Amino acid sequence: MLSIKMFCYKLFQSTILFLHLTDVNCQFTFSAISLQPPISSVGSTATATCNVTYTGSTATTLTWQIDSVAVQQYRIQNAQVPQLGAQPASGFDTSPSTTTSNVNTGDTFPMILGIRNVSLTINQSTVSLGCSAPGCNTQAPLQIGVCQPNTASGVIATVSSSSCGLGCTVQYSCESGYTGSDVTATCQANATFDASTTCTLSSSLSPGAIAGIVIGCIIAVAIIIFFLIPHCCAEICCCAFTHTLLDLGKKKPEPDITMPDLKKNTQPGGPNGEGDVP
Ligand SMILES: *[C@@H]1O[C@H](CO)[C@@H](O)[C@H](O)[C@H]1NC(C)=O
Ligand SMILES: *[C@@H]1O[C@H](CO)[C@@H](O)[C@H](O)[C@H]1NC(C)=O
Ligand SMILES: *[C@@H]1O[C@H](CO)[C@@H](O)[C@H](O)[C@H]1NC(C)=O
Ligand SMILES: *[C@@H]1O[C@H](CO)[C@@H](O)[C@H](O)[C@H]1NC(C)=O
Repeated sequence: MLSIKMFCYKLFQSTILFLHLTDVNCQFTFSAISLQPPISSVGSTATATCNVTYTGSTATTLTWQIDSVAVQQYRIQNAQVPQLGAQPASGFDTSPSTTTSNVNTGDTFPMILGIRNVSLTINQSTVSLGCSAPGCNTQAPLQIGVCQPNTASGVIATVSSSSCGLGCTVQYSCESGYTGSDVTATCQANATFDASTTCTLSSSLSPGAIAGIVIGCIIAVAIIIFFLIPHCCAEICCCAFTHTLLDLGKKKPEPDITMPDLKKNTQPGGPNGEGDVP
């Protein structure tokens, strides 16, 4: 009698343990969470998608979380359509969706969570999907960003708000001396602007610059005509004249010096003979 009592107790214990184990086991396999767009602009909706395969057979709760805050819950049960639970008071504006068909053991179905009006405070926060069993979880970091205006040289960007999120606009124009079209660009959900501009250093000059150059040229020409040419000509002529004189002066005295020497050498004989003859 005692052994039967013991056997029943052991059976009861084993049943409890078995039920407990199946409850604790993760009844799902998850794909990696995909975020669309990969970087979401402030104020836009970030969408997380996960493909879930139901490997269990008992009812389990799948929970979407942002960091450790539960935002949406589904009850998954064999041969039933996933049932959305009451939304936990999370403070997040989320929209969940999943298959509207029955889920049987072995089926794969998508689980989608839209996180509306995202802010920079949840940049790098973790979005996760899982159940209470250990290891029953998949997660990804949220990436929230702002649109960065073009800051290339010559570009003037006037942004409609300091932190440029979804729908924020930037007015582009070009600095003086640069040419390019004036463009209005809008920040999109993926934290990029829908348009940009290029300002190129202009080759054509403004009327003021042209007038300045013309006046400068006239002044330069006037200086050349009335000052530099007369002054330089005098210098050039002077130099030429001096050189001619020097050249003549160097060549002429040489024969002058030798000639008198010859005359001096011949003079004693010459004049004497000539003077002696008459
Ligand atoms: C989910 O599965 C579909 C169809 O196989 C695939 O196109 C999609 O990329 C998958 N998504 C993720 C997040 O793995
Ligand atoms: C989005 O969130 C900001 C604060 O982060 C709030 O001021 C704004 O009203 C929200 N917009 C919508 C449409 O909920
Ligand atoms: C979001 O976080 C990433 C990684 O820390 C950082 O590089 C990025 O600048 C952050 N975005 C904004 C807009 O602060
Ligand atoms: C951002 O979104 C726009 C519009 O959907 C698309 O044309 C553009 O290629 C996207 N840019 C990036 C870097 O993903």
